[in-house]
Formats: sequence, structure tokens, C-alpha cells
Amino acid sequence: MKLALCVGVGLFALLPATVSAGGDPARGERLHSICLQCHGTELYVPPRRRVTSLKALRREVERYGDYYNPRLSKQDVDDLVAWLNRDFYKFPG
Ligand code: HEC
Repeated sequence: MKLALCVGVGLFALLPATVSAGGDPARGERLHSICLQCHGTELYVPPRRRVTSLKALRREVERYGDYYNPRLSKQDVDDLVAWLNRDFYKFPG
């Protein structure tokens, strides 16, 4: 059943990697549309939010990144984390 989620994700491989180092929140926001298959952004704000540090946030995104085929690249993870942290979590650093 989880295989169905892979459909469509390949499209994102076509997005140009515009930034080579560090996260690009604008790209992360676009990329996040693939995550909406399972949940919306309500998970990222209280009272649902459970992640409590930037490190944990990255771990969480990497975990879901592994779920896709092809898995999300390091740049994808960087961009998603940058966007999530800028707009929702706001962890320092
Ligand atoms: C297969 C379904 C699924 C997909 C796809 C998925 N998630 Fe999730 N995600 C979940 C579930 C389930 C939880 C835990 C919900 C809960 O704690 O109630 C979760 C939790 C999270 C959390 C933790 C929120 C918190 O603070 O507690 C983050 C961050 C997150 N997902 C990011 C992502 C991102 C980014 C993507 C896309 C790359 C993604 N998820 C794709 C199912 C999914």
C-alpha cells in the first residue's frame, strides 16, 4: 500500500537544484507538497508538534525522506528543514 506514495515523487527529481549549499526554504516549501499525502502542516504547530530541536527535526525529515523512491537527496532534506524551521518550528541555529 505504501508503494502508491512513490507515484509522482519522481517529478521532483526534475526540479533544478538551484542551491548547492545550505537549505533553501522556498524550494523546501514547494517540495513539501509531496508530504501532504499523509499530513498537512497542522502537525508542525502546537498542540500536535512533538519535535523539540533542530536536530530532531532533521532526523524526522530524513526518516520520511527515506520513504520515497528515489529517496530525498540531502539537498531536499536541507531545503525542507529550512522551510519547516523558518515557518513553523523557529529553532535557533
Ligand atoms: C506515509 C505517510 C507520511 C509521509 C509521506 C510523510 N509523513 Fe511526516 N508524519 C507522518 C506521521 C504518521 C507522523 C506522526 C504524526 C503524529 O505524531 O501524530 C508524521 C510526523 C512528521 C513530523 C513531526 C511533527 C512533530 O513535530 O511532531 C515531521 C516534521 C514530518 N512528519 C515531516 C514530513 C515531511 C517533511 C514529509 C515529506 C518529505 C513527510 N513528513 C511525509 C506520516 C507521513
